[in-house]
Amino acid sequence: MTRAKILICDDEAEILRYLQKLLGGKGYEVETFSSGGALLQRLEADGGGDLLLQDVRMPDMDGLTVFSRAKELRPELPVIMMTAYGSIDAAVEAIKDGAYDYITKPFPKEKIFGVLENLFERQQLLQENRELRDELYGCSTGALIFRSRAFRQVYDFTLQVAASESNILILGESGTGKELIASTVHHSSTRRGAPFYSINCAALTETLLESQLFGHVRGAFTGAFSTQKGILAEADGSTLFLDEVGDMSLAVQAKMLRVLQEGEFIPVGSTRPKSVDIRFVAATNKDLEAEIRAGRFREDFYYRLNVITINLPPLRDRREDIEPMARHFLARFAGRMNKDVHDISPEGVRLLTSYHWPGNVRELENVMERAVILARGKEITPELLPVRTSSPSQIAVPSGTNISLEDLEREHIRQVLAANNYHKSRSAEILGISRKTLDRKIVEYALSVPQ
Ligand SMILES: Nc1ncnc2c1ncn2[C@@H]1O[C@H](COP(=O)(O)OP(=O)(O)OP(=O)(O)O)[C@@H](O)[C@H]1O
Ligand SMILES: [Mg+2]
Repeated sequence: MTRAKILICDDEAEILRYLQKLLGGKGYEVETFSSGGALLQRLEADGGGDLLLQDVRMPDMDGLTVFSRAKELRPELPVIMMTAYGSIDAAVEAIKDGAYDYITKPFPKEKIFGVLENLFERQQLLQENRELRDELYGCSTGALIFRSRAFRQVYDFTLQVAASESNILILGESGTGKELIASTVHHSSTRRGAPFYSINCAALTETLLESQLFGHVRGAFTGAFSTQKGILAEADGSTLFLDEVGDMSLAVQAKMLRVLQEGEFIPVGSTRPKSVDIRFVAATNKDLEAEIRAGRFREDFYYRLNVITINLPPLRDRREDIEPMARHFLARFAGRMNKDVHDISPEGVRLLTSYHWPGNVRELENVMERAVILARGKEITPELLPVRTSSPSQIAVPSGTNISLEDLEREHIRQVLAANNYHKSRSAEILGISRKTLDRKIVEYALSVPQ
């Protein structure tokens, strides 16, 4: 990396001299300004500089004003506010408006170096992530494909929070890409040198999940012939993805809470706690707050997991992504099956774009796979796409049927639920009612829904 250039703006010559010497000695390039006006002129004239250290109290123009003007001129320039005792409120104000951090005068050397190193490490990571993204965008498998603004925002946010150490909760309907985003978090974080670990909390019975997570010592239970390390011990120093976390039993949640709180756990059958350093990323398509209200999810566990939330929008809310993704899947499956299909007809694209995709990206992927299998020509046409845009005229009640509106509604809800695998949010969406209303109607009509 080339030498980072730090711009420093303070009216006290003493401070400027001190910082110039300190930071210059550390190998940074330094440029100083004794007034807000001079700094802004410089920012207007050219885009150089990797960081601005801005004093909060300036005689010509107050530091906050300089900060917000600087932000307008150079939105990407990170700013650290320098405050004297008593002006912390202003620094906090600046942070709320997007300043990176603040340091209090008089600054001990280590404090300044610490803040700077942190910042530049993060900047570098962001930069590398951006380069990686540009490299991957639109090509190879495993990469995220998107064109919509909505998903770009999610993606930028993902890269940003990946650099922090916080636990992350990913929410989204099934098939929206939760697992892919979880792995993106890991591969964009400082932990990316280690493998990404993942465990599906729904696929295992409680005892199995427990021993998979915590490991067990030999003889811990019948059949435990040897000591098993457990995924928590394996994932020490890395990221662990808890998929379908909404399905974790209360007992396992209680034990995991301890891991999140204290960074330690006790292997099954052992008495000695083990310490681990793990970053948790969890995902679910359940409404966890409703689960908490129903007593199936621990609130304290929820707050530990949900330090940062990433919400993945359903595909129908980002229709611009459909075509590039469909083309991406087309190329992938055609390549894999060695078939010479490489285009989608305009009607095909229209059909794909207008469908409501209850199964989101996973459904799109399956639809494209099937289309490639069935394709005989070079192009994917509507007949190859088993999706229909729903229109009310499809619903036909035989004329002369003697049935009350209530019975009709009950029957229709039953059918939609069954057709959608009793996935309630999806069914509610199709029925055009809220999830709450659906729940109420299920009770009202005594519909049976497998748990
Ligand atoms: N933006 C994207 N670009 C390319 N492929 C994607 C994208 N989003 C999802 N996919 C693909 O769609 C499929 C479903 O994604 P993923 O398994 O991450 O979703 P999920 O939300 O975890 O689904 P589920 O709730 O069913 O577990 C995967 O094959 C994934 O690679
Ligand atoms: Mg998943």
